[in-house]
Amino acid sequence: LFLPERRNSRGFDLTHAPTLKMIDAARAPFKTHHWNAAPLLAGPVAPDAEQPMTNPANGTETGTVAPASAADIETALASVKPWGAPAAQRAEILNAAADLYEENFGEIFAILTREAGKSLLDGVAELREAVDFLRYYAANIPDAAPAGTFTCISPWNFPLAIFTGQIAAALATGNAVLAKPAEQTPLIAQLAVTLLHRAGVPATALQLLPGGGAVGAALTSDPRVDGVAFTGSTATALKIRAAMAEHLAPGAPLIAETGGLNAMIVDSTALPEQAVQAIVESAFQSAGQRCSALRCLYVQDDVAEDLLKMLRGAMDALSIGDPWLLSTDSGPVIDAQAQQGINAHIDAARNEGRVLKELRPPAGGTFVAPTMISVTGIGDLTREIFGPVLHVARFRSHQLDKVIDDINATGYGLTFGLHTRIDDRVQQVTEAVHAGNIYVNRNQIGAIVGSQPFGGEGLSGTGPKAGGPNYMPRFCAPDRQTSAE
Ligand code: NAD
Ligand code: ALA
Repeated sequence: LFLPERRNSRGFDLTHAPTLKMIDAARAPFKTHHWNAAPLLAGPVAPDAEQPMTNPANGTETGTVAPASAADIETALASVKPWGAPAAQRAEILNAAADLYEENFGEIFAILTREAGKSLLDGVAELREAVDFLRYYAANIPDAAPAGTFTCISPWNFPLAIFTGQIAAALATGNAVLAKPAEQTPLIAQLAVTLLHRAGVPATALQLLPGGGAVGAALTSDPRVDGVAFTGSTATALKIRAAMAEHLAPGAPLIAETGGLNAMIVDSTALPEQAVQAIVESAFQSAGQRCSALRCLYVQDDVAEDLLKMLRGAMDALSIGDPWLLSTDSGPVIDAQAQQGINAHIDAARNEGRVLKELRPPAGGTFVAPTMISVTGIGDLTREIFGPVLHVARFRSHQLDKVIDDINATGYGLTFGLHTRIDDRVQQVTEAVHAGNIYVNRNQIGAIVGSQPFGGEGLSGTGPKAGGPNYMPRFCAPDRQTSAE
């Protein structure tokens, strides 16, 4: 196949004042804009009643969503058609979509901030990742036939990057896509699909069905669907697997990227400044709402006091507030339900005297202030706390093997971080820990498409890793080769 060469997106340099000014000017027209999301189908649309969407930072309205009705789901399933175009043409159109994404950065950053509470730093990273997925999959199309129709279901925490990544891989391989964004973030999905259609993806090959779990359930339990790409919680992935087993063909693939209980080990040889910066970024960036985020830090006992003192200082320097402001490090959590669940966890720890440090959340909006909680080990965490909460345990050097056993015993295996200056330890620990993405002497978030394929094992997902060479073959029919194109 003749496919284009690829480069990762350059993004924006946020340390460059004229660039910041230019971004601010591009976002300005969308500061109070109202967007409307509704099904985008290759047929007549008859959605359910419109619902208002609000900004998690201040409760103001951002637009409306009209969720897909049962009739819309039937229209989509009846009209969907795999993308028949040759691979080179599909690649060209996906690259054109990447260009359109980049051109529309002002509106994209505005929606990401006002719909999902993303800071500008997060918005830039998210746009880059989405664009990288489009170009990476366009440049690496396997010589194989598509599986048919894929349902793609995405979470709210990467409402552009993961939404786009799933769709881009399915479309690049010639499938059709029924896209179901998270109920919290339909507005950015609407813009993404509009841009993909504008770039040339046919309406029959890409249809958008906004709505909640019921829409997702309908789209994963119909025999006209040939495969599912899902990113979200482990609990939802298990429901989807059960529905597929009952209703879809036995060989229909499920690609599921799910949750994590991610740990980091900092030993007494680690560089403290480097470790503290990595901990703060890993635990608190994006208000801790990353599947990759650090949940449980293990610090070697003899450096723990000093390191935690530095960590408290670094937390004090964080700016929590309106994510539209360029000075904000961390915005709100996605909604009131998430806020209540995280606060209940913090309250329980406070009642037990285990809070080591907490900041004060801003008033209004669904803010949760970054908080540090003491635990005996990762086994104390019975669920993924999806917010800015860092749990800290101490260990002595002779307990390292036990720490690794405890990390592996969670059954999750998404990200892991290690800070040490002992080379043998790097080898020993990284071989022993079960995790899809392991980072040494840096933060453990923000995998780069094409360089750091991302995905987990065990309860964290089925693999193959997104943004890597094994991903797209899973969207292909296993035993049908295409003729040369
Ligand atoms: P979620 O499981 O609640 O929802 C994810 C999506 O599934 C949404 O679109 C939702 O509407 C849909 N859904 C819900 N019930 C369904 C059903 N029965 N059938 C079909 N679809 C259904 O997850 P969330 O709260 O949106 O996202 C946060 C979770 O996602 C966290 O657990 C996080 O770790 C995980 N996540 C994982 C990755 C990864 O790459 N491994 C990346 C981002 C987020
Ligand atoms: N790919 C995202 C990260 O690495 C989830 O943080």
